[in-house]
Amino acid sequence: MNRQRLEEVANAMVVPGKGILAMDESNPTCKRRFDSIGVEANEESRRAYRELLITAEGSGEYLSGYILFDETIRQATRDGQPFPEIIASAGGIPGIKVDKGTLDLPGHSGEKFTQGLDGLGERLNEYREMGAGFAKWRAVITIDDGIPSTACIEANMRALAMYASICQDADIVPIVEPEVLIDGNHNIATCDAVTRTTIRSLYRALAEQDVFIEGTILKPSMVVSGKSCPTQAGVDEVAERTIACLKNSVPAANPGVVFLSGGQTVVQSTVHLNAMNAMGVNLPWRLSFSYGRALQEPALKAWAGAAENAALAQGALALRARLNGAATLGEYKPEMEAAA
Ligand code: 13P
Repeated sequence: MNRQRLEEVANAMVVPGKGILAMDESNPTCKRRFDSIGVEANEESRRAYRELLITAEGSGEYLSGYILFDETIRQATRDGQPFPEIIASAGGIPGIKVDKGTLDLPGHSGEKFTQGLDGLGERLNEYREMGAGFAKWRAVITIDDGIPSTACIEANMRALAMYASICQDADIVPIVEPEVLIDGNHNIATCDAVTRTTIRSLYRALAEQDVFIEGTILKPSMVVSGKSCPTQAGVDEVAERTIACLKNSVPAANPGVVFLSGGQTVVQSTVHLNAMNAMGVNLPWRLSFSYGRALQEPALKAWAGAAENAALAQGALALRARLNGAATLGEYKPEMEAAA
């Protein structure tokens, strides 16, 4: 394990003013996204769309890294330049999703377990040769009547810790992603409690596994009201609770926290991140973004599967990247939305 390299890459991922673009949708998830714009998902349409994302002018200066899917890291631009090379030549870091999705957790109805540890070391060595500097693994925690169970949290956090350890042995920075799903009618206090329990369990598991925390990045969900909760917490409460939750559960050795957007709207994701960074609280880690939907949605809609819309779509991505870049500094203003 090259600790110095891991620490350097982790710090570069959360450099002030920049965040990460999650563009690692599995083929079924990508199909759902493409269905929403009436575009057929196949290898070429996925390639064309992802080429547009990684070559979007004006976004690279706000994006430190790009999370790719296995198919995507092997793809190239129309004129044959491999995607990881394009990203690296623009100063970005290619990353790779390595979990293999979720299974129903045996004996625990309504809960999931993330798989993908088999053969992980070999896969990581190949990805590193292809230029990957970091990896991602997403665990899913569902809130509903009587869940999450301790069994679900512990099993998923242990798998995350094992993944993180295998990544570091391959000199790849692990993004550890415990997502507490936004779905449900639970209130923000419940989300807060579940998120704390989950993140504490994660860091216990990472410590037991002797993971080098300085060479990891945390990707959590924000503390928000459940999507169908009749009372929706406002921006200040989301920001204050999320910061308090993280301060109580994330060690200072962790270099950065990059939030997922997790079903928040495009603008909410930016506003919440900005509010946290504008609070003026002295935090031991950087607070940034690793959004999928919140960065891509406007671009996906603008593209609509037509090559002639590429520039429009790239402009839409560049705008979200710039505004979220500003939110990492607490410098986002709603007027900036009008620059579209
Ligand atoms: P969303 O921002 O769309 O939640 O995606 C981020 C991600 O990478 C989930 O694993």
